[in-house]
Amino acid sequence: MTRKTKKTNPYLARPTDLGTLFGEESPQRFLEEQWPTKPLVFHHQEKLAPEIWQLPALQSLEAALSIAAPDTIFANLPDRDEEYNQVRLISAADVKKAFACKMGISMEPELEKIAELIFWLRGIQRDLGLARQTYGRCNIYAIPDGGRTACHYDQNINFVCQITGEKTWELAPNTHLKNPITRHTAGTPPDRSTAAYLDKPLPQKMPSKGRIRVVLKAGSVLYVPRGYWHQTSAKGESISLNFTYDQPSWAQVLSEAICKRLMKDEKWRAVAYGLRQGGPLGQRAEAEFEELMRKSGETLGNISFEDLV
Ligand SMILES: [Fe+2]
Repeated sequence: MTRKTKKTNPYLARPTDLGTLFGEESPQRFLEEQWPTKPLVFHHQEKLAPEIWQLPALQSLEAALSIAAPDTIFANLPDRDEEYNQVRLISAADVKKAFACKMGISMEPELEKIAELIFWLRGIQRDLGLARQTYGRCNIYAIPDGGRTACHYDQNINFVCQITGEKTWELAPNTHLKNPITRHTAGTPPDRSTAAYLDKPLPQKMPSKGRIRVVLKAGSVLYVPRGYWHQTSAKGESISLNFTYDQPSWAQVLSEAICKRLMKDEKWRAVAYGLRQGGPLGQRAEAEFEELMRKSGETLGNISFEDLV
């Protein structure tokens, strides 16, 4: 295939799936041994997935800005060097100024401008077997030479594709909170759900237990599981593209299936009233609810794995 054809239809050149992203690595082995809880890094030659590594829009900060969606460009302020404290930037001139002052920049690409990324997002989601409710998106990170990202964990998963420059990642398992539903930066106050679900006190800095260090260069891919502690530092101007997916839980997916089934019954579609009310209104509402609950087994029937799809 000629170069011209590839440029015109880059997503048609190869399948946009986990296998192509992983190059010579076995996605099957990843799915069986790593996914979803263990990190994985591998380094392949950029030529194995040119549809990502050679995208012109990812070759420099300037090029990335040309495809950034409005209102998604942020600079990490130097007090935390992290998304915990960032400012939104509008003009390209301000972004370049912040970058020159050693601030890390993040942005989301406008997917209509770079449609092949939609195919990648969907293909990877399908291969991971994630629920249809999953929110998948791309993020571009431009980090200046010497720029750092402070220790934190995310509530979603990330496949990090290192496009240019070099970035060192330190990662450690999270023994403090399993399956978090919000992100957290070490050394900051926990939000309500973090505090409610904690197994043990949160660390103030990067935990040392189980810590590993990996260096990503152009062509590297890193899988970062949900909740895994990580911090980074860049050498040279680093540009990376993340495929990010939130993690709808069994509780969420089942709740939705149950709701769908209950909504077929007009009585379950009726307004929920009388809540936090005493007196006759509260008593009538409670009796109605108890009657619904008595018959709920019949209404729900057997919910199976198939109902979650
Ligand atoms: Fe992160």
